Amino acid sequence: MAKQWWKESVVYQIYPRSFCDSNGDGIGDLNGVTGKLDYLKELGIDVIWLSPVYRSPNDDNGYDISDYEDIMEEFGTMEDFDRMLAAAHERGIKIVMDLVVNHTSDEHQWFVESRSSLDNPKRDYYIWREPVDGHEPNNLGSCFSGSAWEFDETTGMYYLHCFSKKQPDLNWENETVRQEVFDMMTRWCEKGIDGFRMDVISMISKPEGLPDGPLMENSIYGEPMSVCNGPHVHEYLREMNQKVLSKYDIMTVGECAGVTIDEAKKYANAEGTELNMVFQFEHVGLDVDGNGKWCDKKFDLPQLKKVLSKWQNELYEVAWNSIYFCNHDQPRIVSRLGNDSDEFRVRSAKCIGTMIHMMQGTPYVYQGEELGMTNQQFNSVDDFDDIEAINAYHELKEMNIFSEEELMARICYKNRDNARTPMQWDDSANAGFTTGEPWLAVNQNYTKINAKDELADADSVFHYYQKLIALRKSHDIIVYGKYDLLMPEDAHIFAYTRTYGDEKLLVVCNFSEEPQKFVVPEGYDLEKAELLIHNMDKAVQDGMADGFEAMAWYWKK
Ligand code: GLC
Ligand code: CA
Repeated sequence: MAKQWWKESVVYQIYPRSFCDSNGDGIGDLNGVTGKLDYLKELGIDVIWLSPVYRSPNDDNGYDISDYEDIMEEFGTMEDFDRMLAAAHERGIKIVMDLVVNHTSDEHQWFVESRSSLDNPKRDYYIWREPVDGHEPNNLGSCFSGSAWEFDETTGMYYLHCFSKKQPDLNWENETVRQEVFDMMTRWCEKGIDGFRMDVISMISKPEGLPDGPLMENSIYGEPMSVCNGPHVHEYLREMNQKVLSKYDIMTVGECAGVTIDEAKKYANAEGTELNMVFQFEHVGLDVDGNGKWCDKKFDLPQLKKVLSKWQNELYEVAWNSIYFCNHDQPRIVSRLGNDSDEFRVRSAKCIGTMIHMMQGTPYVYQGEELGMTNQQFNSVDDFDDIEAINAYHELKEMNIFSEEELMARICYKNRDNARTPMQWDDSANAGFTTGEPWLAVNQNYTKINAKDELADADSVFHYYQKLIALRKSHDIIVYGKYDLLMPEDAHIFAYTRTYGDEKLLVVCNFSEEPQKFVVPEGYDLEKAELLIHNMDKAVQDGMADGFEAMAWYWKK
């Protein structure tokens, strides 16, 4: 397997709006990021993935871009960006930019022109269709509720928006659109950035003839994800690779909603003709019930093991995995798969970290995950900021399937704002995130969970993550070793081995509050092993793991 720096790196995702506010306006910004680079250096990460910092009217917090080559006013200036980039590079930290090119903002100049008349040169930059019998051209719904089509009075036609109506989809079939995007990417590469995380890149090629999609659960609309992995997506990415990516030593990760193993093998193929790796969503889509995303069902561990192991095994040597649980769209994992009570929060956060970081692939840490930050307590819909949650609340409310209480419980649990509450830096007002009024309320537990305390505590989640990251650097087996799952049916223990030449690793994590038995496989003599990492003080008890205990042993002949 070819060695690559991006296979050996650990990525840290920053959601700038919520990371650190340097000027007291309540909104995180670029100077805030620059000020915290030493903190990230101490954690030991190699790469920052920066969620969008481009100019945007913020209908979807920066994922609706009105100028790809300017900085959002609230976040600072291009000079601030350049300073941040230089300061990161000085510390050996790379910066990967979010690339949102499935859609723009409706306030992007391209769309302003496109909608202005039928014969505008940019008309075909977007996906316009005539009404069918006075209605939408097909049944597709938006990922943020309602129809994926918006009627535009000026020209009497509909445009497609798989997300909000302020996020019109670009028409990738148009060669000029592709060239515009590639040129823009080239200018960023020339500036010295280190890669791209590509937003919903699996959606850029729409199915031939834009057919109806299968109905979504609890909805009159067709599944917007049915446009994923369209007929030309690989062709477009190969073109992007030839024209831009292959010319620079950068890393790329595609956010690939709806990706299957077979598709991932193409997107992230080891020959490097498309992207370096993808984010797949199968594992984070397992804790659902018949009502889609909005539920508070817990993970079934055997099912989770099966899915994660499938990705580990099937991409081995033919493609590359990204490994993650958290990002700005996912609820906090310690509240979701762990246990965020006082008794188990720290231990379960470390247990999840162990399970993820000892796997094969490039690990992603989302801001605050390294502190064991938890879900927020929302009291009413007025506490939500996120467009997805607000729209879903109103849509489901209207459908009257759940009582108010149940609806709130469901939306509170999965809501993206859980991940977006401000970073908890210390126990001063607003968790040290801002001296002003934060744009989204700080989680009230910041006096108990914050970076300052964790930096001072050798047993903190922070220091455990620091150790996990360091182990990956000192042990090639963690990066390149082969993965094998143990005890597939066990409801509580997640255990696996890694093998690499004459090296071996055994990882055991207990995902329950109670002590559980585990089986040490033959040939793995614990007495001869080095205990690489362990999330408890006590000695390891042979064949038994305490509630949320996690450990990894290492052998080298
Ligand atoms: C991606 C982003 C998400 C955004 C959506 C539309 O899924 O991660 O935050 O809302 O794309 O751009
Ligand atoms: Ca600010």
